[in-house]
Amino acid sequence: MTNKLARPRGTSDILPDEANLWQDIEEKARKVLKVYGYKEIRTPIFEETELFKRSLGQTSDVVQKQMLELEKEGLSLRPEGTASVVRSYLENGLDKNQGLAKFFYFGPMFRGERPQKGRLRQFHQIGAEVIGPISAFPFFDAEVIVLSVHLLEALGLRNLKLKINNLGTPAEKEKLSDILREQLKDQVKDLCSDCQERFGRNVFRILDCKNEQCRQVVEKIKIDDSHLDQRSRDYFSEVKNWLSKLQIPFEVAPYLVRGLDYYVGPVFEISYEGEGLGSQNALGAGGRYNSLLQDLGGHDGLGGLGFALGIERIILAMGDGEKKSLDTPLDVFLVYKSINAGDLRDSVYHKVFELLNVIRRNGVSADMLYIPTDFPKQMGVAGKRARFAVIVGENEFKENTVMLKDLKSATQEKIPANQMIETLKKRLC
Ligand code: HAM
Repeated sequence: MTNKLARPRGTSDILPDEANLWQDIEEKARKVLKVYGYKEIRTPIFEETELFKRSLGQTSDVVQKQMLELEKEGLSLRPEGTASVVRSYLENGLDKNQGLAKFFYFGPMFRGERPQKGRLRQFHQIGAEVIGPISAFPFFDAEVIVLSVHLLEALGLRNLKLKINNLGTPAEKEKLSDILREQLKDQVKDLCSDCQERFGRNVFRILDCKNEQCRQVVEKIKIDDSHLDQRSRDYFSEVKNWLSKLQIPFEVAPYLVRGLDYYVGPVFEISYEGEGLGSQNALGAGGRYNSLLQDLGGHDGLGGLGFALGIERIILAMGDGEKKSLDTPLDVFLVYKSINAGDLRDSVYHKVFELLNVIRRNGVSADMLYIPTDFPKQMGVAGKRARFAVIVGENEFKENTVMLKDLKSATQEKIPANQMIETLKKRLC
């Protein structure tokens, strides 16, 4: 007996029915990203491990605990997309010949986390990055936040909460970590074992630990903006003003610190406040990472920022209505009458199959039930899958006509067969 092999823990198979939804999500997202002037970039799904260590930070949880390293020494599957995009921008000299660049990407990311609902080891992101001589340019901070909200709304999602915070410059971040250590130092023993270790390694991570005990400790500490200088405060105020002007509701969350070390300045997270996601309810997050550009060899004055949305979590947050609203129906479902059930030699059936191919060759999407099936059943499927039904039978073929039924208005009319494509194209506009 052979043992069946299973997929690795924390991964999923996207089967054809669900893959349709993934395509719809990607298509919709592509449209929105192009409206904002972003262009696609495709980078390798593995990189030198060193790139992630230098970008996400040696002390970040992702680098310390979640990297999926390849056996081939020195390479790792990418845990996120930003580091690769920045590497590619610099390596390909886009700073010299293009200056400002706006990228988007879709693809799998890999983190060796403990799997749970909404937390996988292979998951997929829709990401966007803006990189160029924009180290202080609050319009872009506002743009990426507006874009991420717009993307989620275009996918039909409501019940979203946008939280923003200002981490300040690297030196100000350092001050904040000193303040946090000072306030937490007497309660280290009350923290979970992970956070006890984070206290020395990366104190920011304690702020968003989900452990109840840690949350109680964190609730008692006081964070204000005393670690920020006036310039940082003014910058953040400008970003907030733009969000208000552009009518994007937000909440300032001083505890929002983000898990990747490259962030400086404004950061944000969008969570889903409806049911179904549990503790993993962050649909997307992002922020500024100016110093990453210099850390990876870029010249002074270059800055970057962006965000990524998790596709699996978006799907978990979607109801049937949202899923259906993305579904692009077929243009035409071909419905045939008077065929002997089960008889594939029926001459009407042959003509129907020929007609199906004529419709498709003219760029109109079309399908039919290939196994001869009764008329009401075909109409039922047509109603679910297509915008129009083209109904044909022996009489129509004799008269060179087709019956065109609008499946939204339920009206139908007989038209000459040679006008069918033209009529369909007009109505589908
Ligand atoms: P992140 O917050 O680590 O940021 O991930 C962004 C989103 O990816 C999360 O909000 C979540 O929806 C999804 N995600 C993360 N980890 C998992 C997981 N294990 N399973 C399922 N979904 C997950 C970044 O990755 C940054 N690169 C975002 C960015 C781009 N910042 C600036 N530019």
